[in-house]
Amino acid sequence: MSRNIIITGGAGFIGSHVVRLFVNKYPEYKIINLDKLTYAGNLANLCDVEQKPNYKFVRMDICDYEGVLHLMQEEQVDGIIHLAAESHVDRSIKDPFTFARTNVMGTLALLQAAKTYWDSLPEKYEGKRFYHISTDEVYGALQMDGTLFTEDTKYQPHSPYSAAKASSDHFVRAYHDTYGMPTIVTNCSNNYGPYQFPEKLIPLFINNIRHRRPLPVYGKGQNVRDWLYVEDHARAIDTIFHRGNVAETYNIGGFNEWKNIDIVRLLVATTDRLLGRPEGADEDLITYVTDRAGHDLRYAIDSRKLQRELGWEPSLQFEEGIEKTVRWYLDNQEWLDNVTSGEYEKYYENMYSKR
Ligand code: NAD
Ligand code: TYD
Repeated sequence: MSRNIIITGGAGFIGSHVVRLFVNKYPEYKIINLDKLTYAGNLANLCDVEQKPNYKFVRMDICDYEGVLHLMQEEQVDGIIHLAAESHVDRSIKDPFTFARTNVMGTLALLQAAKTYWDSLPEKYEGKRFYHISTDEVYGALQMDGTLFTEDTKYQPHSPYSAAKASSDHFVRAYHDTYGMPTIVTNCSNNYGPYQFPEKLIPLFINNIRHRRPLPVYGKGQNVRDWLYVEDHARAIDTIFHRGNVAETYNIGGFNEWKNIDIVRLLVATTDRLLGRPEGADEDLITYVTDRAGHDLRYAIDSRKLQRELGWEPSLQFEEGIEKTVRWYLDNQEWLDNVTSGEYEKYYENMYSKR
């Protein structure tokens, strides 16, 4: 069956993996990557698919209700996979308004555009899907007591980022409960892998180790995150988009909890080894710095519902995934240099006019 799907945020980290998977796996689909190309959006993440006939890029802000509605009508869109967001907690602490605008108002604009377009069709919501990608951070923080976030855990966001994502999740569910829109929400744990913007822990530290720059560990490095390889998340999104039940929530995670300081040591050992340096030699780069404001202690996801109901499982062990990831960043220094220098942004200013 042919489908016309908008993937928002497809030029970002996770979105680019989802676009690549869908374009390659479903040649009969038309995949429209709708992205504003903020600092976090980079079309170089998709250079291997941009020439494919079933792929189209549109530079657009998700807050542009009229633009999104027009695009949906023009392309007869029957599915939306929504990843576009401001995604970095530290930035949200400095600039919460941008997070409310994109994550809350942008999601609302998308929902309303989808509703308006689908309401105008004779078959209405039949065969349609609005799939919203969210985060485990909406559930707040866990203690070091072995408990896990389930789909029923109460929302208790602490950062402006997670508060904005929580709000967008509520709007998505409200569109199902009020209008009958066929929505799905998933909440995933921390992702890692190729093409992640080097402001997040793993790519930032790999790049710093390579250049022998300090590794700024917040607080005492005791915070725990639950890590999932990004391609495993993309596979989960594929499974849930096609086989998930409307109005359901699915948690996505790999039962893979790590203290930050242990990850940092693993990154140092792996990067040193792959660069031919004595393993662990760069541990003296570790620098403990002032803790992040409101730093959530621990995240950990119970993803048994997804495994039980849809048969999805993570494919990679963490050490294997980290090795692949470090190797990728070391082999793609040009990508990193381009991103850290901001060169790619100037290029897009000339290529695409902003809406
Ligand atoms: P990212 O910051 O790497 O990419 C975000 C993308 O959205 C960029 O391409 C950016 O240009 C685009 N974008 C931002 N504002 C936009 C706007 N107003 N209009 C159109 N496009 C816009 O983010 P990511 O890490 O790939 O995360 C993608 C999604 O997954 C987010 O919704 C995030 O909350 C969620 N998520 C991320 C993680 C993680 O560990 N990275 C974990 C769970 C859930
Ligand atoms: P990050 O990659 O920003 O993801 P999130 O905040 O969404 O979990 O951070 C992962 C963990 O690493 C988090 O506990 C904060 C910590 N961290 C540092 O200690 N130093 C850093 O420079 C960064 C970016 C993060």
